[in-house]
Amino acid sequence: MEATIVSDTAKHYPVLLKEIISVISPQHGGTFIDCTFGQGGYTKEILKYKDTKVIGLDRDKNSQKIAEKFYNEFPDRFLFKNLKFSKLNNLKLTNENIKGILFDLGYSFTQMKDPKKGLSFNFTGKLNMQLGLNDFTAHEVINNLDEKDLNKIFRYFGDEKEAKAISKSIARERKSKKIDTSNLVKIIEKSKRKKNFRIHSATKVFQALRIFVNNEISELIYGLINSAKILKKDGILAVVSFHSLEDKIVKYFFKNLSSSKSFSRYEPLLKQKKFSFEMPIKKPIIPTEIELQDNAPSRSAKLRYLVKKENIYEIETDIIDQFHELLEIENLSLKL
Ligand SMILES: C[S@@+](CC[C@H](N)C(=O)[O-])C[C@H]1O[C@@H](n2cnc3c(N)ncnc32)[C@H](O)[C@@H]1O
Repeated sequence: MEATIVSDTAKHYPVLLKEIISVISPQHGGTFIDCTFGQGGYTKEILKYKDTKVIGLDRDKNSQKIAEKFYNEFPDRFLFKNLKFSKLNNLKLTNENIKGILFDLGYSFTQMKDPKKGLSFNFTGKLNMQLGLNDFTAHEVINNLDEKDLNKIFRYFGDEKEAKAISKSIARERKSKKIDTSNLVKIIEKSKRKKNFRIHSATKVFQALRIFVNNEISELIYGLINSAKILKKDGILAVVSFHSLEDKIVKYFFKNLSSSKSFSRYEPLLKQKKFSFEMPIKKPIIPTEIELQDNAPSRSAKLRYLVKKENIYEIETDIIDQFHELLEIENLSLKL
């Protein structure tokens, strides 16, 4: 494996920070759940307002070290849990005035630069891609799952048009030796007939593997459902997504809870129906030109938010049915 170099100058930019703060208004106080604590960029900004409390969650236990600094500075207003956000309902929060729940999806620059995590196709070594609290690695997926299952993962989670050819080559190559990060990159480069000069040939397959290894589809769906349940009246659910699959899920869920679209064509449109949630803006908030200049990777970020209008703790949504095909692909991991 290449030397572990995580540059000291590698800078972490909390994406759409100003916009997040303006959406959740921490100046009015309350408890906020930062579901993707990471380096604590959002948490730090919220805790600047004195009547706030933050519960930070992250599946990566490296975030614990950063959380310790926050404990020292804000012993009564901060709590960290090394927990996956789909398990939000495990926190005992019934008495908390939850005013905002935030998600900044995906992985951080620091994680991407960590060769042990194996998230980047620029490092050599064993395929991993675990963000934390996982059950299996990308190495097990690539070296053990059937060719047709790999094809589905690459196609649906990476939108990789040449998924079939890539899966076929993987199945052939792994007969003679185990596949690691650099072999995988070479296999992808050799299998692809169409070259795209804007993105690296391996980008889509690596994205698909990361989504699969970290169960990112069910994490997001259950994270959203549990958030909508525990939020208090006038509380905000804000999500920053980075790829179209995530944004599709978030957008569907928010519309599903807030608009009067009939779920079934046999169900009459209930014009008078009152919804417990409101989506104040239909279009996502995106980074400004200034942010893009400072932090190019923020270019695909989209912020959407939802406001809860009454204190209800059960919600009605068909999101699981809507995305069942993707959830079934995640279940292919049961074969490992
Ligand atoms: C883009 S970073 C967040 C950066 C953070 N907003 C900041 O300013 O420092 C995403 C973080 O979410 C964490 N994460 C991803 N999926 C998660 C999940 N299902 N549950 C908990 N944490 C998750 C990752 O480990 C990573 O630290």
